[in-house]
Amino acid sequence: MLVLGIETSCDETGVALYCTREGLLAQGLHSQVAMHERYGGVVPELASRDHIRRLLPLTRQALADAGRRLGDIDAVACTQGPGLAGALLAGMAVASGLAAALDRPLIGIHHLEGHLLSPLLASRPPGFPFVALLVSGGHTQLMRVSGVGRYELLGDTLDDAAGEAFDKSAKLLGLGYPGGPAVAALAGRGREGAVSLPRPMLHSGDLDFSFSGLKTAVLTVVRRGLADDQARADLAFAVQAAIVDVLVAKSLAALRHTGLRQLVIAGGVSANQRLRAALARASDEQRMSVFFPEPALCTDNGAMIAFAAALRLQAGGLAGHTAGFAGAFSVRPRWPLEELGEPAAQAA
Ligand code: KG4
Ligand code: ZN
Repeated sequence: MLVLGIETSCDETGVALYCTREGLLAQGLHSQVAMHERYGGVVPELASRDHIRRLLPLTRQALADAGRRLGDIDAVACTQGPGLAGALLAGMAVASGLAAALDRPLIGIHHLEGHLLSPLLASRPPGFPFVALLVSGGHTQLMRVSGVGRYELLGDTLDDAAGEAFDKSAKLLGLGYPGGPAVAALAGRGREGAVSLPRPMLHSGDLDFSFSGLKTAVLTVVRRGLADDQARADLAFAVQAAIVDVLVAKSLAALRHTGLRQLVIAGGVSANQRLRAALARASDEQRMSVFFPEPALCTDNGAMIAFAAALRLQAGGLAGHTAGFAGAFSVRPRWPLEELGEPAAQAA
């Protein structure tokens, strides 16, 4: 079965072709970072318009790279939410149009399920069940994943997401958007222990997170004045260390809580090298296994959407999925992951 996956929930246009027999055949990605950079964040209207411009050329290119034709596609999958409403609509409109023209089913995929399952695309994937740490610009969640569509929320952020904490700190440091990679790069020149920042909720006894206090602490240091580049690098180092420490401690606590030994990290922040190194160290010490998506699959992409749809179709079959354009399509800008059903239930 050949699945076309489309991702347009935020500022990346992603398209991919996943074959259930041969794996990932091709993928194309256009990042809007350069376009939004000068505004210091994503401008939703510009994002939507750019997705419209990019989607068909990227789809054509992916088909050419895979050596397939439009008619070879068995199902069209698209991120239905959560995300920016206009951006989601751009993807769903194209996906619906293609599905209608081809008379193939259209499958709306939850963006976070895409991230959550993307480590299974690796050559040595984890088996179910596992604990997943979802760390993106909008989410910081610990989940128990027992199967496709079987997600139990263990912990969540009470305010800012980890990626948001990186992005807001970057802004305070006068760095560009997106903030995570910028803070990480500057932190590379920072010194350990030069600035100390709080580790919010580290000892709260539960699996929840809170990062808004960290932002306030960063603001206080910035207001006191950063004398030179070294001072800025030291602060970036402290921001990254504080976020990583909390993410690692809570992930290990989630493993203890569930008794599981496999941890999967997903979402944009999972690209962070310090986080990866810290978890790799912990896995050696604690007899657990950590699974990361390939760096290219950490941030938003079409491959994870095509793949999640393929897993759902393999488990639940095509029955119950709308063939083509059913006259209306909808997006879900807010969509709790726990509301997702299992594939079989959906197809019933
Ligand atoms: O998953 P993603 O691409 O989009 C959302 O669904 O939000 O995640 C984007 C987030 C941004 O907040 C960005 O700053 C962060 O991931 N990020 C990083 C790194 N690369 C991206 N944060 C820390 N270190 C990185 N290397
Ligand atoms: Zn994402």
